[in-house]
Amino acid sequence: MGQPVFRPRRLREKPLLRNLVRETRLGVDDLVYPVFAVHGRGIRDPIASMPGQCRLSVDELLKDAKDVAGMGIPALLLFGLPDEKDPRGSEAYAEDGIVQQAVRAVKDTVPDLLVVTDVCLCQYTSHGHCGVVEDGAVRNDPTLELLARVAVSHAEAGADMVAPSDMMDGRVGAIREALDEANYAEMPIMAYSAKYASSFYGPFREAADSAPQFGDRRSYQMDPANGAEAMREIALDLDEGADIVMVKPALPYLDVISRAKTEFGVPLAAYSVSGEYAMIKAAGQLGWLDERRAMMEALTAIRRAGADIVITYFAKDAARLLEHDRGA
Ligand code: PBG
Repeated sequence: MGQPVFRPRRLREKPLLRNLVRETRLGVDDLVYPVFAVHGRGIRDPIASMPGQCRLSVDELLKDAKDVAGMGIPALLLFGLPDEKDPRGSEAYAEDGIVQQAVRAVKDTVPDLLVVTDVCLCQYTSHGHCGVVEDGAVRNDPTLELLARVAVSHAEAGADMVAPSDMMDGRVGAIREALDEANYAEMPIMAYSAKYASSFYGPFREAADSAPQFGDRRSYQMDPANGAEAMREIALDLDEGADIVMVKPALPYLDVISRAKTEFGVPLAAYSVSGEYAMIKAAGQLGWLDERRAMMEALTAIRRAGADIVITYFAKDAARLLEHDRGA
C-alpha cells in the first residue's frame, strides 16, 4: 500500500496554518448595511420578520450611522418609507422625501460613511409596483423618466452612489444621462443587474410595505431558472454605464455570482436579501443551527463565489465578530 503523497490534512491541523492558506477573506471593508428610514422622531420600530432590524426615523438613524461607521463598515444602503403613496410614487423624487432628508442628515453628521441610495418606486407607489402602471400593466419607458428624477434628487441630497433596483429596461442609461446633464458625471451607479423575481424578498416587503397590490414582479424581475440571461442583463447595464453590477439574491445564486465575476471581471456586488437573513435568524433562534457560524459561512461563501461587495443585514454582527477575531 503506497502512502498518499499529498495529504491535505497537513495544512488543516494548526489554526495558524489554516489561516495562512485560507483562500477567501471576509473583511469589514466588503460590507454594506441596508437601513430603512421613516418619517417622524424617536422611532425605532422593530421589523418582526427581520429580528434585530428596525425602521428608523432620521434622528435614530443617525445614531446607527455613527455606530456603523465606528465599526469600520464603509457604506449604508438606504431605503425609505414615505408618508403617503400615490400612483406615480412622487415622494421618491421629492426634495424633502424621506430618503433625501436621511441622506442630508447622515452626510452632515457622519461624512465619512458612504450613503448608497436604492432607486426604485415600489415603496412609494399605491399599487406597489416598481414602475408606472397603465391598463393594469407595468410600463417600461414612462417609468424611466421618473427613475432618472429619483436618482438626480438623491444626488442633489448628497448621496455617494445610486443603486437602481427596479429592473426596467434601459434604466441605467436613462439615469446616467440625467445625472450627467445635472452635472453629476462623477456619481457612480451600482446597478441591480441580475435581480431575480424571488420569494426571498418577503421580509423586506413587510418591512418596507412594498408588496405589489395586484399581480407580481415577474414581468420585470428575472426568472430564477435563468443564468445566461443574467450575463446579458449585466452586459447591457455595463454598456449603459453601470460602475458596479449586482446579483440578487446571493445564496441561491452563487453560480450566477461566480459566472459574472469570471465573464466580466468588473466590481461585483451581491445582495444577501431579507429572506436569507430571516432563515438564519429563525433557525438560530430555534436552536437549530449556530447563528454566528452560519452567518460567517454564508457571507464567506458569497465572497468565495466572486462578490467583491456583500450587502447584508448581518453587517454589524459580522463586523463585531471580525473585530473580535482580530483582537483574540
Ligand atoms: C425594491 C427592492 C426590493 C429589495 C431591494 N430593493 C424588493 C423587491 O424587489 O420586491 C429586496 C431586498 C431584500 O429582500 O432584502 N425594488
